[in-house]
Amino acid sequence: MNKRVTRRGFVRAAAAGSAALAWLRAGRAPMIFAADADKPAMLGGKRAHRGGWPGWPEWRKSWEPRILEILRSGRWCSSGGGGTVAEFEEAYAKLLGAKRCVATASGTTALLTALHVMGIDAGDEVIVSPYTFIATYNVCLMHKALPVFADTDPETLTMDPATIESRITDRTRAILPVHIYGMPCDMDPINEIAKKHNLAVIEDACQAWLAEYKGRKCGTLGDLGCFSFQNSKHLPSGEGGAVTGNSDELLDRCWSYHNCGRSFGTNKGSGCFTRGSNYRMMHYPAALLIQQIDKLVKETEVRRRNADHLTAGLKEIPGIQPVRLPENSRAVWHLYAFRYDKEQFHGLSRSKFMKALRAEGIPCSGGYHEQYYDGLLDEAISSRGFKRLFSPARLKAYRDSFQELKGNKEVCETTVAFYQSLLLADRSDIDDIVKAIRKIQAHSAELARS
Ligand SMILES: Cc1ncc(COP(=O)(O)O)c(C=O)c1O
Repeated sequence: MNKRVTRRGFVRAAAAGSAALAWLRAGRAPMIFAADADKPAMLGGKRAHRGGWPGWPEWRKSWEPRILEILRSGRWCSSGGGGTVAEFEEAYAKLLGAKRCVATASGTTALLTALHVMGIDAGDEVIVSPYTFIATYNVCLMHKALPVFADTDPETLTMDPATIESRITDRTRAILPVHIYGMPCDMDPINEIAKKHNLAVIEDACQAWLAEYKGRKCGTLGDLGCFSFQNSKHLPSGEGGAVTGNSDELLDRCWSYHNCGRSFGTNKGSGCFTRGSNYRMMHYPAALLIQQIDKLVKETEVRRRNADHLTAGLKEIPGIQPVRLPENSRAVWHLYAFRYDKEQFHGLSRSKFMKALRAEGIPCSGGYHEQYYDGLLDEAISSRGFKRLFSPARLKAYRDSFQELKGNKEVCETTVAFYQSLLLADRSDIDDIVKAIRKIQAHSAELARS
């Protein structure tokens, strides 16, 4: 039987020795009764979690006939409109409470479309969250615009609205907040700042299908919202994406842009009359997506229940800080992330903590790192095009500004995250995660030395 060391249990036991309580009050690493706790797997003990975890993605035999129907129809491409892609667009817009949706080949092409339609042009600047998948940086660069980073709030892991205004210049055209890991950004202050400075708001909701902020779904809170349906996502089709919004005029222009600049709705012209590309979704992924909508809705509730349960367990552990969501919002947990304070684990480094957790049978990762130092941005700003578009002084100040991202640095160094499909496991499996972390904490001094 496991003898878990709970915080309360520890305090009860420690009451016998006031020195231990003084230690706890001083905010030092908690005194642990290692002999009472199971040994971590890394030190030769049994794994806290001995079963597997749900795999991803899943498929159902019942989805096959619709795929075969498309195959046999010979109508695989969606360039003429209608068919399964149009059916999915309607269903997805309805699901989000958006007026319209344009399905695209990927989340990246959804973002490229939205940026173009919101008028992002060569030499512009876009305020972006640095804590994101690299595509968010890339889409700005591909429009020859500078992705200027607002800082990350270490408590929410999303864009800190208080750091946006100081980054606005006369080149700024848009704010691109990212609902990272399916956690809504605090959109009210972001929208207010955008309104005040006449900026567009494009939501990167690529990880936030059905996430909610103040009763509305992410992807409907700015001018346009962008989604990804790539393999790992909660609504997957291998590759796929969507732009959502409430303005017919904007969505008509998205349609034209993703379909080689062809006329559509209010965006009228002859032939391919406006700039565009081929960012269309095929009918096959649309058939996969439309058949997963009910599954997404049900699984979102399961992930939410398990995430709440996990948070309740983790927040009792000193040194484990679950994220704070904006008031009246609901996450969908593409990744379940928390911040790890090694000081409460006898200095056990995050990488050793994660190694110990994996040894317990709990897969985890450290999330995003400080990607602005990876070379991509240096390459971009030293390119001929960017040098033509921005002054040397601006490019230098831009490069120097990465050092101001203190919140993001902290987040990159201290976050630990679980992949979404863990949250589809049984409640007892979720308990194993908490058990494993408690065990690691109880033996953290030994683990740190090992
Ligand atoms: C936050 C974010 N933005 C953009 C993208 C790009 O989407 P895709 O991979 O479908 O092009 C992703 C995909 O992982 C993402 O997570």
